[in-house]
Amino acid sequence: MNAHAQITTAHATALPLKLVEDLPSISVVGLGYVGAVSVACLSGLGHRVIGCDIDPIKCSDVGEGRSPIHEDGLTDLLSAGVSNHLISTTGDLREAVLGTDVTFVSVGTPTKEGGGCDYSAIIASARTIGEALALKYEYHTIVMRCSIPPGTTLSVMVPEIEAVSGKKMGRDFGVAFNPEFLREGTAIEDFREPPKTVIGASDERTANIIAKIYQPVDATPLLTSIEAAEMVKYADNVWHATKVCFANEIGRICKPLGIDSHDVMNIFVQDDKLNLSPYYLKPGFAYGGSCLPKEVRAVAHLADEMSVDVPLIQSLSQSNETQIRQALEMVRASGAKRIGFLGLAFKRGTDDLRESPILEVINQLIVEGYEVSAHDEAITPETRINDQFSYVSSVCPHLKPTVDALPTLLTESSQDLLDNVDAVVVTHASNQYRELLSAWSDMVEVIDLVRLFKNLPERPGYQGIGW
Ligand SMILES: NC(=O)c1ccc[n+]([C@@H]2O[C@H](COP(=O)([O-])OP(=O)(O)OC[C@H]3O[C@@H](n4cnc5c(N)ncnc54)[C@H](O)[C@@H]3O)[C@@H](O)[C@H]2O)c1
Repeated sequence: MNAHAQITTAHATALPLKLVEDLPSISVVGLGYVGAVSVACLSGLGHRVIGCDIDPIKCSDVGEGRSPIHEDGLTDLLSAGVSNHLISTTGDLREAVLGTDVTFVSVGTPTKEGGGCDYSAIIASARTIGEALALKYEYHTIVMRCSIPPGTTLSVMVPEIEAVSGKKMGRDFGVAFNPEFLREGTAIEDFREPPKTVIGASDERTANIIAKIYQPVDATPLLTSIEAAEMVKYADNVWHATKVCFANEIGRICKPLGIDSHDVMNIFVQDDKLNLSPYYLKPGFAYGGSCLPKEVRAVAHLADEMSVDVPLIQSLSQSNETQIRQALEMVRASGAKRIGFLGLAFKRGTDDLRESPILEVINQLIVEGYEVSAHDEAITPETRINDQFSYVSSVCPHLKPTVDALPTLLTESSQDLLDNVDAVVVTHASNQYRELLSAWSDMVEVIDLVRLFKNLPERPGYQGIGW
């Protein structure tokens, strides 16, 4: 035991013993912004909590009921936990693990040179957790809370614990990734009313243990895989950063135009049907149609004319073109030569071909000598398709090979199309196409750009563009 290994407790009124005994005891490794708040809030739910840090000052602060960071209400909650004999601290992680049922890991993961994530604190704590587990007979649950690249929990932390302890995940101990969404400054309030609780667990038993801990503040946690939970944290933060940069770019455009950007965005955020909603937020194919590409170009041009720098908005067309190239690469990589397209218009339910991104894919394949056919539920022999073709060839002259060939490429029935291709590219999530492909032949490769099936088909020859 090192100099800071003694468990620090204060002595005051204890909570009723029954409450404490019913709940799992928890050790928290890393007493920084995340760990200190976790110690306080978990003790606030009645858990006995042992905090652990290599920094003796943080250990003594938390162990004596003082907040090691500036966070509203944290000192009050910590001192209540210490007074109730629920909070103690130690510098000896082995002791903390051996004295508890569950260990939350919230050590630092700074950016290392080159931009990657520094795992050294994770590896060091995993090793010590492993040493403790080697001495422990009871099942233990380890909850990773650091923000780390997907796969890190299972490929960095777990192997270290298993190697040192000689024990097996799933049999002797459970592992989960439980991302932390608390905002500094309102962390305690956010703990009590979380935006969501995400649990990516190695097994059901582990998921249940963690779900029970959060039950008083969130009875409906979102359960997923460990890797998906790790990615959720990254997706959330990149999304928040995107929102900040987007709002700032709108502000930079509004200012020289004499428009109050807060007026604009106050209206913008009231639209929870299209603007702040799941709409447009599921991976799939590129955007297209008569509005999005045109307006993105218009706003980028407007900014350019005023010498306003808007790199996020400027980069959108490039990102969209990357998605089109991705679809093209998937077709090329399939090795198929006869390619059928299910859906031609820029989205399902319209016959609008203006700036339909799939036309770019078809065009390139025709130029490269592929045999192409296409079906679209909204484009029938009665559709005034010639108007569409003239529009496409006048606005996008490079698509002329496709426009010239399309009348002969279109099939009247989607089944006919499927019978005569080696690979099919799905661009519309329609029931007709779903039913058709539920019974597809093994010989036909399917390149899904729209996530036709909620549960991914487990058969060879199926691939999604972003799943
Ligand atoms: N700060 C936030 O709001 C926030 C939010 C979500 C996720 N995260 C993530 O949570 C993790 C922790 O973040 P933080 O802001 O609390 O970091 P922090 O730097 O404030 O705290 C990390 C603590 O870990 C301790 N530590 C390092 N190695 C240790 C070891 N081997 N054993 C015991 N303690 C050790 C350090 O002494 C430090 O006190 C990071 O992965 C971070 O990305 C942070």
